[in-house]
Amino acid sequence: MERSKWILIITLAFLLATLPVTLRNLKSNLVIQCPYLGDVTNVILGKLEGWSLGNQLEVTEEKIGGIKALGPNLTTCHPSFGRDDLLVHCCPPAFETPVPYVDFLSPDPQSPVRVRRPAHLVDENYIAKYNKALSIMKSLPYDDPRSFARQANLHCLFCTGAYDQQNSNAPLSIHRTWLFFPWHRMMIYFHERIIGSLIGDDTFALPYWAWDIPEGMVIPDMYMNKNSSFFHTERDVSHFSPKIVDLNYAYERNLSPEEQLDTNLAFMYNQMVSGARKMELFMGCIYKAGEEGYCNAPGTVELAPHNTLHTWVGSNLNPGREDMGKFYSAARDPIFYAHHPNIDRLWEVWREIHQNQMDIKDPDWLDSFFFFYDENLKLVKVEVRDVLDITKLGYSYEQVDRPWMNKRPMPSVPPKLARQILKANENKLQLSSSNHVSSSDFRSHGRALDASLTVKVNRTRNHLTKSEKEEEEVIVVHGIEVKGDAYVKFDVYVNVADETIITPKFREFAGTFAHIPGGGEMMRRKTDLKLGVSELLEDLEADQDESIWITLLPRTASCSNVTIGGVRTEHIR
Ligand code: C2O
Repeated sequence: MERSKWILIITLAFLLATLPVTLRNLKSNLVIQCPYLGDVTNVILGKLEGWSLGNQLEVTEEKIGGIKALGPNLTTCHPSFGRDDLLVHCCPPAFETPVPYVDFLSPDPQSPVRVRRPAHLVDENYIAKYNKALSIMKSLPYDDPRSFARQANLHCLFCTGAYDQQNSNAPLSIHRTWLFFPWHRMMIYFHERIIGSLIGDDTFALPYWAWDIPEGMVIPDMYMNKNSSFFHTERDVSHFSPKIVDLNYAYERNLSPEEQLDTNLAFMYNQMVSGARKMELFMGCIYKAGEEGYCNAPGTVELAPHNTLHTWVGSNLNPGREDMGKFYSAARDPIFYAHHPNIDRLWEVWREIHQNQMDIKDPDWLDSFFFFYDENLKLVKVEVRDVLDITKLGYSYEQVDRPWMNKRPMPSVPPKLARQILKANENKLQLSSSNHVSSSDFRSHGRALDASLTVKVNRTRNHLTKSEKEEEEVIVVHGIEVKGDAYVKFDVYVNVADETIITPKFREFAGTFAHIPGGGEMMRRKTDLKLGVSELLEDLEADQDESIWITLLPRTASCSNVTIGGVRTEHIR
């Protein structure tokens, strides 16, 4: 009698303890068949997990001193939305079972440096070697985390919110936040070492697509060769070489090659130099663990050229311009592994321009962590702090010129004349057009961006003390809400006298919002756009003015699905 009572108690306790796992599995299956049930199960699951794991969580938090670092819980993998109408399954096999991991160790400092070279400069031998390695990688079975399909799915997992965070039910997002640069650095680092190990070459380095310099502003030849493993069918063929890239791509503008080139360089200047004079403006918003730590405001280069080039490369025949045009599929295109090294290089260039003055010291960023399989099939835990010194990581970039550094743009109209025109137009415009507004506070439900919108904004301060001059004046377009699933792009200009002639080649250009939706609920949260404009206002002789005119110019038809909460200026230290 005594004995069967004990067996009953033990069985009950076991069932209770495994309930969350059972539900979690049940949930994955449910979500596959009926997506709308996902939320319901989430709620039940959240409650049950909180209740049954309560004690366990406390222990973990205590163990790490009450600080919760941000990182994925690998056993929470679930199907995610690659597009609104497309549930994708990117989870690795057997993810439910925790795999033992090792902490990251920098490579042996004695090992050779891997020098990443511009893709337009690499030679035949290099291309042959890389081609062979990539075809081996493509032939590995899906079970092997080094296989190309698994490498591509790494991006899918982290970019569509397929994991929850550790110690929290909050989803994890690596785009549109300050995790953008370090996460992609990690991914590319392991990928490069795996490629090298497949051909036994410990000097192997990925090429970088130097789209920021004139020589690199076409799809590099190696990616155009139909008989190589670098070729990919899901691309926009109208953008094949010799078409010059449009770093601010929204739709076909068919500028002359010279005009496109010039515009690209001025655009780079804005994104790298004048628009990125503070950490947050370049790196993206400050994102911390847990639901409350969520943020959604990408840095300049992530918005463009990063997002814009994803879209520019992807096939115009696919609904989301796949493969490069959507994050779930982007890393299936081999050119992804040349695009991102250039992004990574520009992070280094930006640090150099600012003499490392803006390096982030916040432990919450430094402690954020991820997991990757290395070339020896070991699962490695890497923290952001591990990947801040590329010399220690054993790679470098072959230097190229930076012609955009001295492409500080000129105003399209002399500033004094522009102000006269703007003032003269002001009354007339206010009366005649609902798209010319003097208040930056929009109605509570926001304003649709179905046509260009000019807002007169009162600046918070127009006479700065010396210490305030160190601060950066920032235009904030806040509460941007994107409905629907299309690529969304609008540009922001200051004191524009003539909308019909304006392009990013001119000083009035403050920056752009280039948005690739995907990832379900999480990615649909409102975003902010922050654009540094102190230098721009000086050049437009508007730095002493009480107010400025800010124009939002929609560049895609999808902007009719966008609402804006408001526009203001603020200062950041
Ligand atoms: Cu995670 Cu180029 O994107």
